[in-house]
Amino acid sequence: MCGIIGYIGKKQAKEVVIQGLKRLEYRGYDSAGVAFINGGLNVKKCKGKVSSLESLLHESENGHIGIGHTRWATHGEPNDINSHPHTSSNGKLAVVHNGIIENYNSLKKKLESEGYKFYSETDTEILAKLIESFLDKYPEIALEKSVQMATAQVSGTYGLAVVHEEEADKIVVARKGSPLLIGVGEDEMLIASDASAVAEYTDKVIYLDDGELAVITRDSYQVLNSEEIELSKEIHELAMSLEEIEKGGFPYFMLKEIFEQPKTISDSLRGRLNVGEVSITLGGLENVMEKLVKANRIIIAACGTSWHSGLVGEYLFEWLAKVPVEVEYASEFRYKDPLIREDDVLIVISQSGETADTLAALREAKEKGATVLGIVNVVGSTIARETDAGVYLHSGPEIGVASTKAFTGQVTVLTLIALSLGLQKGTIDKAEAGRIIRALSTIPNKIEEILEQSLKIKEIADLFTYAPNFLYLGRSYNFPVALEGALKLKEISYIHAEGYPAAEMKHGPIALIDEMMPVVVIAATEHTNDKMVSNIEEIKARKGRIIAIATPNNNEVMDLAEFSITIPETEDVLSPLLSVIPLQLLSYYIAVNRGCNVDQPRNLAKSVTVE
Ligand code: AGP
Ligand code: GLU
Repeated sequence: MCGIIGYIGKKQAKEVVIQGLKRLEYRGYDSAGVAFINGGLNVKKCKGKVSSLESLLHESENGHIGIGHTRWATHGEPNDINSHPHTSSNGKLAVVHNGIIENYNSLKKKLESEGYKFYSETDTEILAKLIESFLDKYPEIALEKSVQMATAQVSGTYGLAVVHEEEADKIVVARKGSPLLIGVGEDEMLIASDASAVAEYTDKVIYLDDGELAVITRDSYQVLNSEEIELSKEIHELAMSLEEIEKGGFPYFMLKEIFEQPKTISDSLRGRLNVGEVSITLGGLENVMEKLVKANRIIIAACGTSWHSGLVGEYLFEWLAKVPVEVEYASEFRYKDPLIREDDVLIVISQSGETADTLAALREAKEKGATVLGIVNVVGSTIARETDAGVYLHSGPEIGVASTKAFTGQVTVLTLIALSLGLQKGTIDKAEAGRIIRALSTIPNKIEEILEQSLKIKEIADLFTYAPNFLYLGRSYNFPVALEGALKLKEISYIHAEGYPAAEMKHGPIALIDEMMPVVVIAATEHTNDKMVSNIEEIKARKGRIIAIATPNNNEVMDLAEFSITIPETEDVLSPLLSVIPLQLLSYYIAVNRGCNVDQPRNLAKSVTVE
């Protein structure tokens, strides 16, 4: 979710706000906008880059107070009207927002019944009208009170900033689930979603915590908790370089994105996983659910890591929804003149939503009459727009070329769809679904536990940094994870690595095993564990160097392995979400040891828009 900057002080706000937005560009965004107060409120916003926004600005609209936003769309495609800031009906108030307002539909209906009109497709616009509604109802209250009353009615996540032309001496901000900080200057104050936007003006920052609201003026700040009690907050000294700040203190975006996964999976589940009611809400599929229920076959087409998540999807759909699935490389599918039947459903998976082969596969299937669904991260991307329906990952911008949080986001969404389909078809009973849904809700915390082992994983990586080859073995749900682990290592460390179904070793690859061959074995699928133990014995007998990924009680595997990385217990069907994490870290640390450019590996692009 993207960037927010605000300024109030001695300088002209425009320069600071635009520069701040440029500092936030690295996070990936699709549109940008600003609001300044100079007598009246002036709002300028557009799809595209900050430079396009800059060309819309006139000096007359400048002033000493302003806010800006770079949008990473979640609700409503990237276009001018959906860009932020969003304004009140009377045009006197502007708001920018990072996050997702889960109950925006019900709030929108209530506000419409009170006569407020909406012009965008975003969830954010309800914030502008909701704050305005309190100012309309209670004209005597201050802006911060109206923001406090509005946010008390909102569920979901927000980092927001609000200005009002009739209270032009302040910016009001509030935080819940999306970061916000105050930059404390001399006769000036800033607010931002990320320290990189304020670092060149001050090294003194105050980090807001969830549930807090702040009022800043050019020479003061006041932080209130949800009971409107004033808090005294610690002022932190920014010690990081600007470049480090942009990566949130991580040396590479890839490591930042690996560590973001507890949050990004929570965001993928937000508003969709209903633990108490044992149900799944996927608004984006409502108009095609009947087609999915009636589908005699689901074809999944994708490339690279997205193809690996599609392979996990095959196990998920066949087990939970009892529907046959074929997973195709999009590049192969599009040229094979595929046999598509009327009741086939094609699911395309793409982080970028721009991969040429996947887009071509989508178009081919549509021409042949299939219903096409998309599982995409970038809102409003070409693939997202050309599918009949779909589900967004809500993983936020993925900057590192090697896909990590998008993979787990894709597997999370595939699990939600398969569970929803299984419940609708009755191929999975409520008790079983409830067990899996409850387990799914604990995955973010379990990933946190794995991330705490990162130093142990680095120690193992240090021992194998110069291995010439690697093998990755898995069974069932974790066979695709073996492929994904191998791809991660290949693409960022340039070591040759192969993933195999563990039982396949006997049919040739076992000839490769000797004391020089590290073999990562993913023993995270309970129902195939005995067979995995046999495979490990076969490798050990030939002196392979075994690195096991296993649950803590899997002593049989850990006794056989030279190295073990433990992952928490979970349902077999959810194990890929955990077993992939150590493999992401292993490949990352090996690549760093080898001095590779982890975020931009040689020969690779983040989105392959060529065929
Ligand atoms: C994965 O780490 C690679 N960056 C690559 O295989 C990627 O998954 C593939 O190009 C597909 O991209 P997409 O998900 O954006 O379509
Ligand atoms: N949910 C809001 C939108 O789609 C904000 C997205 C963001 O965090 O940039 O406009």
